[in-house]
Amino acid sequence: MPTDATTTLENPGDTSPGADPQTALETALIRLADRSDAEIAAGLADLGLDRCARALLREIVDRARLFPEPPVATAVEVRLRLGEERSVYTVTLGGGAHKVTPGPAEAARARLAQDLLEFLRAVYGAPGRHDATRELHITEPDRPVLDPADPEHTERAAAVTALHQLAGALARPQRSLNELAVHFRSDKWGGHWYTPHYDRYFAQLREGVVNLLEIGIGGYDDPDQGGASLRMWKHYFPRGLVHGLDVYEKRGIAEPRLFPLRGDQSDPAYLAGLAAERGPFDIVIDDGSHLNEHVLTSFEALFPHLRPGGLYVVEDTQTAYWTGWGGNDRDLNDPTTSMGFVKALVDGLNHQERTPAQDGPVSPATRWERGIGAVHVHHNLVVVEKRVNTEQGAPAWVPRDVDPRSWYTAPERSE
Ligand SMILES: C[S@@+](CC[C@H](N)C(=O)[O-])C[C@H]1O[C@@H](n2cnc3c(N)ncnc32)[C@H](O)[C@@H]1O
Repeated sequence: MPTDATTTLENPGDTSPGADPQTALETALIRLADRSDAEIAAGLADLGLDRCARALLREIVDRARLFPEPPVATAVEVRLRLGEERSVYTVTLGGGAHKVTPGPAEAARARLAQDLLEFLRAVYGAPGRHDATRELHITEPDRPVLDPADPEHTERAAAVTALHQLAGALARPQRSLNELAVHFRSDKWGGHWYTPHYDRYFAQLREGVVNLLEIGIGGYDDPDQGGASLRMWKHYFPRGLVHGLDVYEKRGIAEPRLFPLRGDQSDPAYLAGLAAERGPFDIVIDDGSHLNEHVLTSFEALFPHLRPGGLYVVEDTQTAYWTGWGGNDRDLNDPTTSMGFVKALVDGLNHQERTPAQDGPVSPATRWERGIGAVHVHHNLVVVEKRVNTEQGAPAWVPRDVDPRSWYTAPERSE
């Protein structure tokens, strides 16, 4: 296997829809992890063992950040094997270092060895224990170390902590969404209280291969700022591909399985291109400009690219009532506001029960009524479920325009 320099992202932040080898490799590995042993071995050989091993280690190093780390940079030697092939990497954790380098670790006290095939399943496979071929080792001092102030003692403790970080990340612990929001400083919990709602709808997708797009990365015109919620989603969905879209350049926040894209949510042609390259999506979240016009344009452009069963979320719908944002605080059914549009979607749920006469002027929302199975409305948050909605209405013979109490004799009231 090649011995190139320290691994960095191969494509740090593609800024437009298009070919992206990093996305392609991570997607391939995620999908490969569910296959048979023979298929995985052939797939890894096809993709390149070293490339795959480094991509998996990058992912694990990234997940390891959720665990307590040693106070100083500490090396762990990782040995991966596939058939007769052996490869060795040094993973450095602690003291702000999170990196993967090819080759053995000089004087590393901690070691992890595992079959690459099982390692892949541990990182991206279906949930379960994938550690039967894993060996963990700490090199012990060659003399008694009883004094906690002895540097040998400190070094050993650092090696144990770093190894625990790696093994812990491989075990894929499920952190709650609230905890992840707080960890990554997303205001989706604290300020807003969205994460409990999100968890209610997303929990069932958590272990799936989820393709997510969030409009609005955060940090506005600072290219290195933002991405709090994208990191939260990435760790919530360990097999997820997380795309972030922002009108500003956000190249600096790219990391494994997190792809910042630059584009305008009010540009339907751009969104169509993005969806063609990166979609279909399982989840789309609109946390972008919150201008009502943009919210509707993005929905119209992206909802068709949501998979059946997918969820489209609009945040911060308070702007539906803010006139400066294109909202309307007088006509609460104004179809040009996000909430006016959502209310029309709610009526659309019962489209089989309405007569053309009741519809009045055709609302833009009616075009979606056969493809929306549920609309969940919370304070400032709307979740739309894409699902066939052709449940039949009440039988045609039931008169719609007659008071049903005229059909029978109402029981006498006892005073
Ligand atoms: C509220 S922040 C997103 C916060 C982020 N989702 C989080 O929870 O951490 C809104 C972002 O939307 C971006 N934005 C504003 N107008 C936009 C547009 N027309 N298209 C895409 N992004 C836009 C802003 O640059 C800003 O970074």
